[in-house]
Amino acid sequence: MSKINILFVCLGNICRSPAAEAVFKNYISDLDEQDSFHIDSAGTSGHHQGEMADTRMRKVALERKINITSTSRKITKEDFEKFDFIIVMDNRNYEEVSLLVSTEEDQRKIVKIGDFFDPRYSNFSEVPDPYYNELDGFKLVLDLLESANTKLYDFLKNK
Ligand code: 4NP
Repeated sequence: MSKINILFVCLGNICRSPAAEAVFKNYISDLDEQDSFHIDSAGTSGHHQGEMADTRMRKVALERKINITSTSRKITKEDFEKFDFIIVMDNRNYEEVSLLVSTEEDQRKIVKIGDFFDPRYSNFSEVPDPYYNELDGFKLVLDLLESANTKLYDFLKNK
């Protein structure tokens, strides 16, 4: 069976999308489904290219036994050939990624993670950028991402 290829995207690829990648990898690994997915992350900006994820993001994730290991890179047009879904963290990411689209099929690949949040986070529609916030902002990133696991998994498996 062919894999489901998904790319999580935020602005810098050092906070939210590396966390999303690690959170979802952990989730599918717990379900013993790791062989069904190829999961990566990227940023709309190349500003932090080559860097490990932000130490604050890695710290709060490790407290939940989530190990963030990815290195920042910028999304490219070629990613639309490699990935079935591009999952963005906020509306600005959605607009930026949409600029890379060549076809309607590409456009349909772009999905907002906010559409999968658990109802207890119904006052959120995006994963807020934590970069200029305190550690609580980074914990909120994980809360929101973890709350999206079930619905996101169901969506991807049923596509
Ligand atoms: P991310 O967070 O998009 O979740 O990786 C940010 C990281 C860096 C910056 C902004 C947001 N920055 O301005 O450098």
